[in-house]
Amino acid sequence: MSTILIIDDDDNLRMSFKRLLTEEGYQVRTAGSGEAGIRMLEDSLPDLVVLDVRLPGMNGLETYERIYRIDRKLPVIIMTAFSTTETAIKATKMGAFDYVIKPFDIPQILVTIQQALEVRRFTSSVVDMDGSPDHTEGEAIIGKSPAMQEVYKAIGRVAATDATVLVRGESGSGKELAAMALYQHSIRAEKPFLVINCVAIPDTLLESELFGYEKGAFTGATHRRVGKIEQAHGGTVFLDEIGDMPMNLQAKMLRLLQEKSIERLGGRDTIPVDVRIIAATNRDLEQLIMTGHFREDLYYRLKVITIQLPPLRERTGDIPLLIDYFLSRFSSELGVENPGITQEAISRLVSNPWPGNIRELSNTMQKALIFNRGAPLTIADITQVTGSDSKTQNGNPHENGCDKNIRNWIRSQLSMGKQGNLFEHCLDHFGGIIVGEALNLTGGNRSSAAKLLGISRPTLHAKIEKYHLKIETIVK
Ligand SMILES: Nc1ncnc2c1ncn2[C@@H]1O[C@H](COP(=O)(O)OP(=O)(O)OP(=O)(O)O)[C@@H](O)[C@H]1O
Ligand SMILES: [Mg+2]
Repeated sequence: MSTILIIDDDDNLRMSFKRLLTEEGYQVRTAGSGEAGIRMLEDSLPDLVVLDVRLPGMNGLETYERIYRIDRKLPVIIMTAFSTTETAIKATKMGAFDYVIKPFDIPQILVTIQQALEVRRFTSSVVDMDGSPDHTEGEAIIGKSPAMQEVYKAIGRVAATDATVLVRGESGSGKELAAMALYQHSIRAEKPFLVINCVAIPDTLLESELFGYEKGAFTGATHRRVGKIEQAHGGTVFLDEIGDMPMNLQAKMLRLLQEKSIERLGGRDTIPVDVRIIAATNRDLEQLIMTGHFREDLYYRLKVITIQLPPLRERTGDIPLLIDYFLSRFSSELGVENPGITQEAISRLVSNPWPGNIRELSNTMQKALIFNRGAPLTIADITQVTGSDSKTQNGNPHENGCDKNIRNWIRSQLSMGKQGNLFEHCLDHFGGIIVGEALNLTGGNRSSAAKLLGISRPTLHAKIEKYHLKIETIVK
């Protein structure tokens, strides 16, 4: 569970903010002054600090400087009243993660908190790359197959350069883990790091998030805002799901790569920025170029150094290692004894096609352990958690009553002859049900719902917004 330290002298704000964040599943500590906050922080480090600018005694900026000296990678979100925005911008340029203007918009600050924690996770959990499963703590890239050896070599070769890197591979194949390893082994490992998930942020916000804006750039732009790329000056930007970046932003990104400069929205100044870009995608970029959804020039810029993660079905020799790794990792996380696994169950897992790759295998092992009663895992234990014999899962399942209902519903929609993108409409309909049910099941806890669905919290947030889901109406 992530720990957040709130430093603010306003008792009411501290209390209500604490309640809100606790409900969101965070562990929260509070301090009423900079001095008290620093004492707490020296005592034990939180994962994130939310800091007010105007404080009695040591002011926000001074407090920020002290925090920076204690742990320069600890993300700090600055809260500022409108009148002190300039101070907040100053802190952001000194390395603070971001700033929010009081009174703040709750969904927005939750997203900012989530992003900051994501950065913390990236920069603080060290990724081991020796390919063996003898780890129970932190993240490790497991795999000794020739295909994975190539990946390690490629990471080693390019990590210490400033080259742009494109990480490709199917969903769940380990792109994010590879990006973390690249960052941690790079010469910029001590510098700012930012993750931008191009899918999780709505298109309309992505541009201002990345590039910032000037006061008056659009209705509602009441103050200047420094964008994420500018904030990461000197550091690394990880653009996750770049295949989903809107076309207009792709042009700006190309310019950043070519000219190493940006312009804020509504601004005339060219601002030089020095950032290293790591991008990742599971999309077929070549196909996207053909359909006019991805710029060819950007593609050529990005792909010079490509790290390709192999799908799990092409490195089945690594599956037993991964099983070992997940069993020892999850049993220690769950506080249970590692029950082991039968040879037949291993063989069954090795022959599974794993369309969801390592994420799917990891989820399977985790669920199997939760239901386990102490005996070595058998084929039956595995099929119990995969729902059916896993081999038939992705073949042609026999249609059941539920499928028939869905088919009928789709047929009725099609026959109504509605205008617009009916395909998207149908997908949204089911998307809303899926997300709603996950939230129902978890009593509205977004972290758990995201985990259940196998998506990140920002992605879940984006879906809640997209499907206009109201948490209080979902949770009965
Ligand atoms: N080689 C590996 N060894 C151990 N764990 C791995 C490995 N590769 C991936 N994982 C784990 O599998 C899960 C999915 O990996 P990751 O998030 O890096 O995939 P991804 O390629 O970014 O997926 P997506 O396209 O869905 O974003 C994570 O929990 C990660 O820690
Ligand atoms: Mg990913």
